[in-house]
Amino acid sequence: MSQIVRGPERIRRALLGGYPLVYVRSWEEARVERAITGVGAKYEKPVPFASWSCVDGIRSPSGEAWPDTADPVKALDAILRFEGPGFFLMKDLPAHFERPEVVRRLRDAYRQLKGKGRHIFLVSPRLLLPQDLKKEIYVLDYDLPGDDEIAYVLTHLGKRFLGEPGFVDADLRRLGSAVKGLTLDEIEHVLSKVLGRRPVFDDDALREILAEKEQASRKEGVLEFISPRVSMEDVGGLENLKDWLTKRKNLFTRESVDAGMPVPKGILLMGMSGCGKSLSVKVISSFWNLPLFRLDMNLVFGTDSPEYAFHNALQTVEGMAPALLWIDEIEMAITGGSGTSTGGDGSLGRIFSTFLTWMQEKDALVFVAATANRIHLLPAEIIRKGRFDQVFFVDLPNEEERKQIFAVHLRRHKVNLDKFDVVFLAKATKGWNGAEIEAAVNSSAIEAFASRRALVEDDVSRAVSRAVPLSRTMEEQMKAIKSWAHDRALSASKS
Ligand SMILES: Nc1ncnc2c1ncn2[C@@H]1O[C@H](COP(=O)(O)OP(=O)(O)OP(=O)(O)O)[C@@H](O)[C@H]1O
Ligand SMILES: [Mg+2]
Repeated sequence: MSQIVRGPERIRRALLGGYPLVYVRSWEEARVERAITGVGAKYEKPVPFASWSCVDGIRSPSGEAWPDTADPVKALDAILRFEGPGFFLMKDLPAHFERPEVVRRLRDAYRQLKGKGRHIFLVSPRLLLPQDLKKEIYVLDYDLPGDDEIAYVLTHLGKRFLGEPGFVDADLRRLGSAVKGLTLDEIEHVLSKVLGRRPVFDDDALREILAEKEQASRKEGVLEFISPRVSMEDVGGLENLKDWLTKRKNLFTRESVDAGMPVPKGILLMGMSGCGKSLSVKVISSFWNLPLFRLDMNLVFGTDSPEYAFHNALQTVEGMAPALLWIDEIEMAITGGSGTSTGGDGSLGRIFSTFLTWMQEKDALVFVAATANRIHLLPAEIIRKGRFDQVFFVDLPNEEERKQIFAVHLRRHKVNLDKFDVVFLAKATKGWNGAEIEAAVNSSAIEAFASRRALVEDDVSRAVSRAVPLSRTMEEQMKAIKSWAHDRALSASKS
């Protein structure tokens, strides 16, 4: 195995190369800052360090501020005037690249700082390089560790915590996927926390490690880690979708990628509200054994820079691959929540094109499950073959499916299903969606419980006769959605 170059070592090598301007691509600003100060402290004569942000200007680690340096050009001037070696971390500088004076000063810095031991570091998760600076700036990826690095580190840690021979191969693979997305330091930290106490690697240990990973994904405000709790048996109907997932279960693995098999990229589930789209996404996670990350488009549009938040989230999930990315309400990426597909805000178009490009270039082991309600807002490009492997239309459940959905929800209340005429209940709920069936079962269970008796069929049929399904009040819209979807998608249900 080749030697693993850790982040700080990469920085040190860039400095040895004599580059005065170093662009560190990373979303962990604090970690990069620690690494740079760490490298500087190890020099024979420790190198002074200071950081700049557009709010505070230049500050030394002790908090001492350089006067009048909040403006990036003035800050660069001050760094150029500084005497002797020094490391300067400039935090938001890429945001100022539109200003020609900033680019000019950086080019000056490149020439003037060469060979002086004075370095300027830029840190940003995105690589934004003006054409004019491409030659002057050394770009360094301070990424999350890749598979090789992880395997290497885990092998060592396994021997340390479990003794020889360390993790067996199967555990190494399981653990490798589980810690993907953590930094090397975090991996070491998590393992010593979990295995230091109890030197056994079992399902409990794996669960604890996954919980740590959840913490890591929370750093990204718009992503939510969802722990798998739903299994295939919790979904009534949708047989076409289930078949599709079953056939591809073993395709979505590292082995399959290595064997050159076509690895599924993603699916789009669109259609009626409350019919099991979100539920199905959770099933993919448990059925394919993939960690699930939900990207909330509402939160994306709630940030100052939706484009940035969106891009950042995609990158984060790639760092966690193999993973399942659920983009809920993907139509928001096109409309920005405005309900029209021609919003005046340019970032909407950019978010959407970012997504399409990313879908083509992404890590093969990120499977995207997108869900959409207001499907008429989806442009043709997203549905076109090639972006998603399959587009499914999730319709109101048919009679057979309603029977199964009743069974799923009744079973949760520990009743004897034989005592329930699910055929009758299914017939009585024509036009109901799964959520409405669930609500009827739950409200009747609550009533039965309140009068201290077991749930019986009568309770359920009474609840059914009281409720009016949404489809009756929205008949026209439903028809429109259906006819729109007819030519564009495969039905998730078997007819
Ligand atoms: N096919 C089904 N089988 C079992 N339960 C179902 C089914 N469809 C819906 N449900 C129940 O209804 C709830 C809501 O469904 P879900 O959140 O998946 O709907 P959705 O299609 O994502 O709706 P929306 O478009 O409003 O987000 C589920 O949590 C589940 O309990
Ligand atoms: Mg949903």
